[in-house]
Amino acid sequence: SFDRLRHVESMAQLPSGAGRISHLNAVILGESLASEENDLVFPSHDFSRQALVSSPEQYRKMYESSIEDPAGFWSEIASQFYWNNKWDPEVYSENIDVRKGTVKFEWFKGGSTNISYNALDRNIEAGNGGKVAIYWEGNEPGDDGQLTYAELLEKVCQLANYLKHVGVRKGDAVVIYLPMLVELPIAMLACARIGAVHSVVFAGFSAEALAQRIIDCKPKVVITCNAVRRGSKAIRLKEIVDSALIESVKNGVSVGLCLTFENKSAMKREDSKWQEGRDVWWQDVVPQFPIKCSVEWVDAEDPLFLLYTSGSTGKPKGVLHTTGGYMVYSAATFKYAFDYKPSDIYWCTADCGWITGHSYVTYGPLLNGATVVIFEGAPNYPDSGRCWDIVDKYKVTIFYTAPTLVRSLMRESDEYVTRYHRKSLRVLGSVGEPINPSAWRWFYNVVGDSRCPISDTWWQTETGGFMITPLPGAWPQKPGSATFPFFGIEPVIVDEKGNEIEGECSGYLCIKKSWPGAFRTLYGDHERYETTYFKPFAGYYFSGDGCRRDKDGYFWLTGRVDDVINVSGHRIGTAEVESALVSHPQCAEAAVVGVEHEIKGQGIYAFVTLVEGIPYSEELRKSLVLAVRNQIGAFAAPDKIHWAPGLPKTRSGKIMRRILRKIASGQLDELGDTSTLADPSVVDQLIALRDC
Ligand code: PRX
Repeated sequence: SFDRLRHVESMAQLPSGAGRISHLNAVILGESLASEENDLVFPSHDFSRQALVSSPEQYRKMYESSIEDPAGFWSEIASQFYWNNKWDPEVYSENIDVRKGTVKFEWFKGGSTNISYNALDRNIEAGNGGKVAIYWEGNEPGDDGQLTYAELLEKVCQLANYLKHVGVRKGDAVVIYLPMLVELPIAMLACARIGAVHSVVFAGFSAEALAQRIIDCKPKVVITCNAVRRGSKAIRLKEIVDSALIESVKNGVSVGLCLTFENKSAMKREDSKWQEGRDVWWQDVVPQFPIKCSVEWVDAEDPLFLLYTSGSTGKPKGVLHTTGGYMVYSAATFKYAFDYKPSDIYWCTADCGWITGHSYVTYGPLLNGATVVIFEGAPNYPDSGRCWDIVDKYKVTIFYTAPTLVRSLMRESDEYVTRYHRKSLRVLGSVGEPINPSAWRWFYNVVGDSRCPISDTWWQTETGGFMITPLPGAWPQKPGSATFPFFGIEPVIVDEKGNEIEGECSGYLCIKKSWPGAFRTLYGDHERYETTYFKPFAGYYFSGDGCRRDKDGYFWLTGRVDDVINVSGHRIGTAEVESALVSHPQCAEAAVVGVEHEIKGQGIYAFVTLVEGIPYSEELRKSLVLAVRNQIGAFAAPDKIHWAPGLPKTRSGKIMRRILRKIASGQLDELGDTSTLADPSVVDQLIALRDC
């Protein structure tokens, strides 16, 4: 069938980096072709016909104009938003090359705007005040709610007025530690409305991790709730905040106010611990404030939020995004990558504690006036059909999730899926890690009934929005490939010397030139920003990912090439886990590597050396795992602890992780040269202790 397709297709020349791909709208290919690279899945004719970008030619034209005239391209999109005053004539300025001085990106500088205004007031003024902005689905089926754009604006204004009343001003940081209640996007939008900088901390992080972030950004207020139910468990979030605030005080950071939402379905206020003078119930104060709140116009380059992410050292990085460029970029990427139409009902399963929840639960969709579903609970509660129950209940048309969820649901009977209609679905999306072709196929065939294109979006906390992504009506897709760059993005693959490689190749994925949604710095550490991202390959932004480009120009992400592990789409630094392990009094040294994991993508494999004379035991294993849960959070708990009386080190004392990775993955025949080790016998010892 492939030959037949070749016969009828016309070849479209794509821009640099994209190569040549087939141009054919009308054919849907069946199952597997010879190899994954030849495995093309075409959007249906009906889908392409209605799509915002409906052919490779249309993509090519738009892409070329975005590269040839970035100022014109992005100004046109930016002009769709309200600006209190327009940006300076120069739309952007950039220096991406450390050799030419400080790396600095600026977009729409001098323009003043407000993202909360653009997401809410602007849509209401356009006549959409009565449209549902958020459907909220609670942990328990039947526990739900909804807010129209007009109602959402009122709630945002009340909180914004309260925050102003307690002294939060433009530029002040506010830490938000909330589960997926509507109060979470409300809190983000309220901060943005008054120019405060929000820093959302995923509510699965431990007290220690939360304290670390509070100490770094010194917020005026912490916003939380007393507890949350996830599946059948209740988690007392406020108590985690209490401990974090005590820890912060010990480190000289005292937060005067902890605004606490009473999440009645999880816990009554009487049962919550309380510190008079510091803690305030949201319900007691916020509803008393006016439902209108004037907007603080901020410069396009004023900070919007800080989001901590993991890197190659133990200290999380405070990724800073500014207002104007991020607004334009999150909105445009949302619209095109999901082929968004005003009638869509959109559900992204991500938590607002991660970048996906910032750009594609809150800002991107609301800036487009979309109706968003947010879900408080767990996708397998009360059973593995919950997602599809929610899809049918709200008639979800765009469903965006992570490969780890797809793989875990794929393990269960298809009947959990097929018992629901899912007829409303039209676009599926994937994010967080490479999606393996078999999971892609299951998602496509079983969930999407072989009708819905999948947008496999590659991007990062740092990039603010999608970088390489299918445009669902334009491309034949290849299961497992993120396809081609978004408008304005010039990805390149470089070798270890930093030379660009052309054509079919593998190497390090870098980006040439700035883009509006790019992060501007690491909070308080611009030097680390330059060292981590711009020095490894001078003249480029280095993503930290490996990548392959195939003969048709499709990009295939191959995973992190640095000391970061991607567990269930969550980025975890090996150094962070190691530092948590060595904080255990009986652990002398630790080395952590990632291993392939059937569901999570990667699992955490920790080699630990114990303090002299301490015997290894099951009890000790548990308490080492607990140390990581306490320092970072349950999602970072090692899957395996491997007792290592000695670690393979070079004579200069450097741990040879290459060997540890091979031992962890059981590739014992591929250990390579061990003769340069200070003590080669430790390798045999480690192999002998594999199942200990
Ligand atoms: O390794 C890539 C992987 O996730 C990393 C970014 O993680 P984070 O900043 O937490 O953001 C996650 C949500 C955007 C990347 O460096 N990654 C993300 N999306 C994909 C991916 N790998 C392959 N394919 C993707 N679609």
